[in-house]
Amino acid sequence: MTFRLLQDGTGSRNRMTDLTLLGLETSCDETAAAVVRRRADGRVEILSSIVGSQIAAHAPYGGVVPEIAARAHVESIDGITAEAMRAAGLTYADLDGVAATAGPGLVGGVMVGLAFGKAVALARSLPLIAVNHLEGHAVSARLAADIPYPFLLLLVSGGHCQLLAVEGVGACKRLGSTIDDAAGEAFDKIAKSLGLPYPGGPALEKLATTGDASKFELPRALLGREDCDFSFSGLKTAAARQAEKITDEQSRADLAAAVQAAIARQLSERTDRAMKLYRESHPDQPLRFVVAGGVAANGAVKAALRRNCDDNGFSFDAPPLAYCTDNAAMIALAGAERLALGIFDDLDAVARPRWPLDEAAALSHPSNSFGRKGAKA
Ligand code: KG4
Ligand code: ZN
Repeated sequence: MTFRLLQDGTGSRNRMTDLTLLGLETSCDETAAAVVRRRADGRVEILSSIVGSQIAAHAPYGGVVPEIAARAHVESIDGITAEAMRAAGLTYADLDGVAATAGPGLVGGVMVGLAFGKAVALARSLPLIAVNHLEGHAVSARLAADIPYPFLLLLVSGGHCQLLAVEGVGACKRLGSTIDDAAGEAFDKIAKSLGLPYPGGPALEKLATTGDASKFELPRALLGREDCDFSFSGLKTAAARQAEKITDEQSRADLAAAVQAAIARQLSERTDRAMKLYRESHPDQPLRFVVAGGVAANGAVKAALRRNCDDNGFSFDAPPLAYCTDNAAMIALAGAERLALGIFDDLDAVARPRWPLDEAAALSHPSNSFGRKGAKA
């Protein structure tokens, strides 16, 4: 993908002005549009954020069906964008740019949002910013709080599970990632074997509130390994086996609680290691930790990570609940941060089903296989 620098190449023309962007997100099963204003001093205002969920369309299949998702995006992107503009009280003439997710994700859906964004950019002579969905999650906590770069990020969603040192706009260094399933994927698959509806994460968390985690013994993955990688497939298999034997409601709740505790513990153990590495590589710098992505909505996960922060002297931040799962406000902000540096893309920007944040690490250490949303790197 090519990108261009505005004017003198330094972006100085735009850096000192307020920027209002339309954001579009269509990489999985949410069609979302948002309008976000990034003030010249870096403050952020979310003027509107509309998320059209496709849960009802996919629920009968127990997971996201790519073809159904792409069609649903085509049908609703127009109306949802109009709603976002109306809710913001703005016209297209008030915009300074359009940011659309260009990957990673289900390519049919990504193409819909990206093509729509290009059309708006072309019709209104606006710069297009082709945003990496993961960069959107990475900045999502900055929608509501002033969190300067650099920070340590745990990105945990349905398609991704990785620890990254986020040094600045578009500058991420991967410290570890999953070698099989993502944490949200584990939540979803185990929830399915417990007979819970899609999406499984929130349903499993609800069931776990009445359960006793100590009633089930579950495997601990990658124990003793010195890296920051994750693995959830062993847990998934063990939990599915236990689920088959369950006959009463209380045991279902107990297993849900045990699974949630096991996922939270693994995320916490790897984060602890990453915090120590991050501290070494960032001497004399403020230690900030951010958790983002759909799984950041989970209370037990957040509580475990807060303890990590207390133990290691890091500050803790997570996006507000509505901005943990997929939304377009985070895409608009990622776009605005790029545009503020004078960076935008050509209208021939392509959809990238796989698009790791740290491309060098993904190539040299391809620990990730193919997942629901492409490579989890
Ligand atoms: O960030 P997201 O909306 O989509 C991706 O980019 O993948 O994350 C969705 C994932 C799903 O796997 C969902 O089950 C999980 O986040 N999730 C949760 C919770 N809310 C959403 N997992 C555990 N507990 C929750 N409360
Ligand atoms: Zn996401």
